Amino acid sequence: CRVVVLISGAGSNLQAIIDGCDDNVNADVVGVISNKPDAYGLIRAHHSEIDTSCVIAYKNESRSEYDARLLAAIDKYQPDLIVLAGFMRILTDEFVSRFIGKMINIHPSLLPKYTGLNTHQRAIDAGDSEHGASVHFVIPELDSGPVILQAKVPVYPGEDASVLAERVHEQEHAIYPLVVKWFSLGRLTMTDGNAFLDGELI
Ligand code: GRF
Repeated sequence: CRVVVLISGAGSNLQAIIDGCDDNVNADVVGVISNKPDAYGLIRAHHSEIDTSCVIAYKNESRSEYDARLLAAIDKYQPDLIVLAGFMRILTDEFVSRFIGKMINIHPSLLPKYTGLNTHQRAIDAGDSEHGASVHFVIPELDSGPVILQAKVPVYPGEDASVLAERVHEQEHAIYPLVVKWFSLGRLTMTDGNAFLDGELI
């Protein structure tokens, strides 16, 4: 399974996936694409001798123009799976539709709760006793595709959002490589907007 990972920043999830693929003969990270030239994840990719591309948005470029260039960069790698790992751009419906069932994302909340940004603070403000992360298939609607796997963490009274975020992040590093592994083994599919593991509705 040829995997392309899209990033914008630190790339700690990218690292977890690279490490996971080292132990998984079925999956290979063949390319890492960033929209930010200074994303630390690009350095991680270099350390692992993985090819990288940077697709930086031009000033005044439309979303569809950008996505066309992103698509060209992705197509070069002929991937079976596109992994969004902290890629901080909203993608056009047209782009997403091109990769239905082949593109996954990780979101730092227990979806369907808290789509969008500032999820940790929102969970604290709501007084939630648990919070976490979700890996889901990507559909045009933001953070709304079928959930594949979630990890939960408790929210401790008086806890700071940054501390909570760190604990959620640790869980992300556990679940994302596992989902990539499932996909690479052909165990994971999406049909009619639903996710299936080994043919069972998730
Ligand atoms: C993670 O919190 C992920 O849930 C969100 O972006 C962050 C990426 O972190 N989508 P990293 O770049 O993988 O360290």
